[in-house]
Amino acid sequence: MPAVTVAVPGPDAVVDVVDVPVVEPGPRQVRVRVEAAPVTATDVSALRGRLPLRPADRYVLGWSLAGVVDAVGADVNDLEPGDPVLAMSDWFETLTGTQASSVVLPRTSVGRRPAALGPAEASVVALNALSAARALDLLDLPVGATLAVTGAAGSVGGFAIELARHRGLDVLAVAREADRAFVERTGATLAVRGTALDALQADGLLDSAVLGAPALAAVRDGGAFVAVTRPATPAPERGIRVTTLAVVSDAAATEALAVLAADGTITPRVAATYPLRDASAAYAEVEGGTGRRGGVVLVP
Ligand SMILES: NC(=O)c1ccc[n+]([C@@H]2O[C@H](COP(=O)([O-])OP(=O)(O)OC[C@H]3O[C@@H](n4cnc5c(N)ncnc54)[C@H](OP(=O)(O)O)[C@@H]3O)[C@@H](O)[C@H]2O)c1
Repeated sequence: MPAVTVAVPGPDAVVDVVDVPVVEPGPRQVRVRVEAAPVTATDVSALRGRLPLRPADRYVLGWSLAGVVDAVGADVNDLEPGDPVLAMSDWFETLTGTQASSVVLPRTSVGRRPAALGPAEASVVALNALSAARALDLLDLPVGATLAVTGAAGSVGGFAIELARHRGLDVLAVAREADRAFVERTGATLAVRGTALDALQADGLLDSAVLGAPALAAVRDGGAFVAVTRPATPAPERGIRVTTLAVVSDAAATEALAVLAADGTITPRVAATYPLRDASAAYAEVEGGTGRRGGVVLVP
């Protein structure tokens, strides 16, 4: 079956679509026939050799998917072939890439997908909405507190502002003027990117634009800050609690987010879809431009 791979990650690496064996699901595992698998900023970091990966002959890329159950292993009694699902792969730990026509994952990573949620939309929920939800958990702000989000119109940031509003937070969304309609539709307030961050004085900040230390200025003394990468995690100052997001798969949480996506509470945005065989064009789109709004999704 075809899979999107890189042999040696690095600045000049390219993705190759190669044939890899179909794997049988073991105990407590589920095999999914993939209908959609996004290419994310994290995949580009992996391709470019910016993530500390354990050695492998070849890496199959991709962190999330949506599809249909194809086969189940022993001790899986609550999913069966034909069930629509979405899932995040704990790729960093397992190197099980989702950009392939079939993927075997632990049952604990695979959530049911409501019929109303299409595969492309579900595939962007599975990683990015879960990341946003986990970031809000780390921030742990009380109802009525003020959250600032950098990169608020991006994939993680967009879900974060919607989920934060849903949790009763006031949201200052740092994004472009061109993103005003999206931001204001969620009930957040636009803080136009480029204006001074120290005026925000938020109780907490999610730095999904990976600005690092300069974004601390937006947080009041004693507030909370969540970084999305380790290199962009600033040293704490002024009593601010600083943590780094490291999302892990969670079937139940993913399923709950899929329900919120199906009922319109959160908005899965898909900017483009590409056939899996055109993965290099999809990677070029993710890597190439700014201003893209929504996921770039591969369709096997
Ligand atoms: N640690 C984890 O568990 C975890 C999980 C998921 C994602 N991540 C990381 O989270 C980050 C965001 O991912 P994503 O999928 O949301 O990416 P994305 O969709 O590209 O969003 C990034 C956003 O940041 C904005 N931005 C970029 N540079 C900026 C700047 N200098 N000032 C203000 N805004 C800026 C972009 O706006 P423009 O397009 O207009 O420039 C875009 O809206 C990535 O680094 C990814 O690897 C981490």
